[in-house]
Amino acid sequence: AIALRSSARTKGLLFGAAVNYNTLSSDQAYANLVAQQCAILAPALELKWDVLRPGSDQFNFTRADWMAQFARSHGMLFRGHTLVWHQGLPNWFASTVNKQNAEKYLTAHISRVAGHYAGQMHSWDVVNEAIEPQVQRADKLRSTPWLRFLGPEYIDIAFRAAAAADPRALLTYNDFGIEHDTPQAETKRTAVLRLLERLKSRGTPIQALGIQGHLFGHPDSVKFTQIRRFLRNVADLGLQIMITELDVNDQQLPRDAAVRDRAVAKIYADFLAVVLDEPAVTTIMTWGISDRYTWLASKKPREDGGRLRPLPFDAQFKPKPAWQSLASAI
Ligand code: XIL
Repeated sequence: AIALRSSARTKGLLFGAAVNYNTLSSDQAYANLVAQQCAILAPALELKWDVLRPGSDQFNFTRADWMAQFARSHGMLFRGHTLVWHQGLPNWFASTVNKQNAEKYLTAHISRVAGHYAGQMHSWDVVNEAIEPQVQRADKLRSTPWLRFLGPEYIDIAFRAAAAADPRALLTYNDFGIEHDTPQAETKRTAVLRLLERLKSRGTPIQALGIQGHLFGHPDSVKFTQIRRFLRNVADLGLQIMITELDVNDQQLPRDAAVRDRAVAKIYADFLAVVLDEPAVTTIMTWGISDRYTWLASKKPREDGGRLRPLPFDAQFKPKPAWQSLASAI
């Protein structure tokens, strides 16, 4: 079968995945699969603060550099995830960063890390998951250390620092929970759109929206109609759109693997049909690529104890119906 990276390219799209260093460097067959299928690679863990910064004045780029080299040697683009996130912070963070020094820590981190890969990054998730629909604030900005120390400005500060450090990377705001047709998602879409409008109107350097795409299968049908209008609104702001972390959580789907795989594949197909109808969508990336290694395994397990099957390849690296959905769509 033709690789996803090639079929995507014929349609002017990029296909890729996020994977981690441990699996990529230790499992040769997995590394081959990633190199065969992907035109763009993102480190799932290795550019987060807790991995990069073992101490407040130490940076360790070893793993991320190895992955950048892997990407380069296989003709893949490299994508940065992520400069600002409320999770994945090192232990020293809480006792070290405060209101007085927060801006310095934020800009110094971004200059150092984005500067390290300047000219080599396809795109950077500058800010990840800044919006939380449950909060009381009108702007729905999540309560993070950065918001508490610097106010909503922290997002502008981060994008400006990233643009200064790497003027060539596509600077992206990345978030989840805007994919499915749910009231909560509609609240979140509105808040994300307001944020993007605010950034654009102030001239903050942002060029893309990343939609994570952590989808979930449900015994009742899953719908993606409301996202269509949202994508159009985002595109009207002049932003590119990337699907950055696609997978389908099958935790609640039936036991039979073939039945489950078909349900998962339908969710991939239905979602891709809607998002690829929007010309601003340029990139589709999955979070992992084989069921052998999925972050969902460490979350809620299936009640029947079965292995989760959220990705395009099974645990033996055989393409699944979800792969077929991708291959037909991209
Ligand atoms: C996840 C990793 O896959 C896990 O291994 C880690 O324990 C927590 O982070 N959205 C994101 C990613 O933006 O950074 C998250 O990655 C998955 C959800």
